[in-house]
Amino acid sequence: MNKVSIRNARPSDHQNIVSVMPEWWGGRDLSSSVLKVFFIHFNNTSYIAEINGELAGFLVGFFSQTEEKTGYIHFVGVHPGFRKAGVGRILYQTFFDACGANGRIIVKSCTSPINKLSINFHRHMGFEIEPGDMLIDGIPVSSNFLRENDPKVLFRKELS
Ligand SMILES: CC(C)(COP(=O)(O)OP(=O)(O)OC[C@H]1O[C@@H](n2cnc3c(N)ncnc32)[C@H](O)[C@@H]1OP(=O)(O)O)[C@@H](O)C(=O)NCCC(=O)NCCS
Repeated sequence: MNKVSIRNARPSDHQNIVSVMPEWWGGRDLSSSVLKVFFIHFNNTSYIAEINGELAGFLVGFFSQTEEKTGYIHFVGVHPGFRKAGVGRILYQTFFDACGANGRIIVKSCTSPINKLSINFHRHMGFEIEPGDMLIDGIPVSSNFLRENDPKVLFRKELS
């Protein structure tokens, strides 16, 4: 694979990203969760991966306003044609580095229990699954984390 380059996200990236999301998420349209405001106000912790100038992946993250030592990854996606080649790892490592440089020693994220790919990816990236209030397929989930009766798997990693 050609070299991956990483840069900070810009507001002008938003439209391109939401337009590819349904395809990247296998037909699920989660694009309403990726707001343009993230590309305006969280662009120093949100990243675009490019290969030969083409969009290869993105990460939307921010530093928690509530937990002073926590960085939160809101969304990550990698082009289906570039998966399992380390692009997701590079995006996460870039965010971890930004966290480390700013005293954010804990990184959190979450996903839906049906997204086994994401669960596997986070495990490979060294995240633990936080205790929840029920199990789905043997995995702890939190039923009401982002809204009522919408279980999420909560991930947590301490940066060493
Ligand atoms: C999840 C996703 C971002 C991973 O990106 P990626 O570039 O393929 O991941 P990487 O190649 O960097 O892999 C990083 C680690 O995760 C593991 N991994 C990645 N995809 C995996 C899969 N499908 N099954 C098991 N492990 C997987 C890799 O083996 C690697 O671990 P290793 O270094 O210990 O071998 C990508 O599959 C994707 O965009 N999925 C659709 C969108 C989505 O579900 N996003 C996450 C929820 S917001």
